[in-house]
Amino acid sequence: MAEINLLRRYPRSTRNIGVRTAAQSEENIRIAREYGREYFDGSRDTGYGGYRYDGRWIPIAEDMIAHFGLKPGDRVLDVGCGKGFLVKDLSKVCPGIEAFGLDVSEYALMNCEPEVIGRLHLGNCVKLPFPNNSFAATIAINVVHNLDRAECIAAIKEIERLSPGRAYIQVDSYRTPAQRQIFLSWVLTAKTHHDPAGWRQLFEEAGYTGDYYWTIIEA
Ligand SMILES: C[S@@+](CC[C@H](N)C(=O)[O-])C[C@H]1O[C@@H](n2cnc3c(N)ncnc32)[C@H](O)[C@@H]1O
Repeated sequence: MAEINLLRRYPRSTRNIGVRTAAQSEENIRIAREYGREYFDGSRDTGYGGYRYDGRWIPIAEDMIAHFGLKPGDRVLDVGCGKGFLVKDLSKVCPGIEAFGLDVSEYALMNCEPEVIGRLHLGNCVKLPFPNNSFAATIAINVVHNLDRAECIAAIKEIERLSPGRAYIQVDSYRTPAQRQIFLSWVLTAKTHHDPAGWRQLFEEAGYTGDYYWTIIEA
């Protein structure tokens, strides 16, 4: 199990992010957690404010392929794949790779990138509908923190089951009280959150042996 930032080439947000005076409203949180149109393509108050393909996952796909030594014919699964941007770019960077995605959002799958039609499964990461050890690597970026603690552990166990020791999980976190404050004032969907030490403990509890890193909102 290693701490490694496989999203180091992901563009930094250009938004001016600081502590908000008011936390997100309960109504916005409720809407966001439906993972429908409002979450992906509605306003910033309820989610992404427009979740569109722009090629930003290409360098991440390159780093994932290099890190796991993936090659044509290998199966890789992106859990919480949204519209399939990373699935598309894994196939673009490594033609012949068998890239798949799974997401709980029917909206995301119905509005996926044309190149990944048929490669995305509708499902919940607490129970992944694939046999043990069936992927060369499993990836879950900013997904499992959206579950409560018990479900989060169940999802991590599932990820471990599909590709023992060959997975990458990224989750919301904070290192300082100031970062925690910013996180709490912006959070919409996360139900489980910890500092890195807390996450490591949770990973251990789940028997996770893959790699991991943190999404930290900086001021
Ligand atoms: C913050 S987005 C991340 C999307 C993508 N991985 C990325 O980094 O752009 C969270 C994604 O997890 C999905 N999701 C939330 N809960 C889920 C669950 N229980 N099982 C599977 N997917 C889930 C959402 O629909 C959404 O696509």
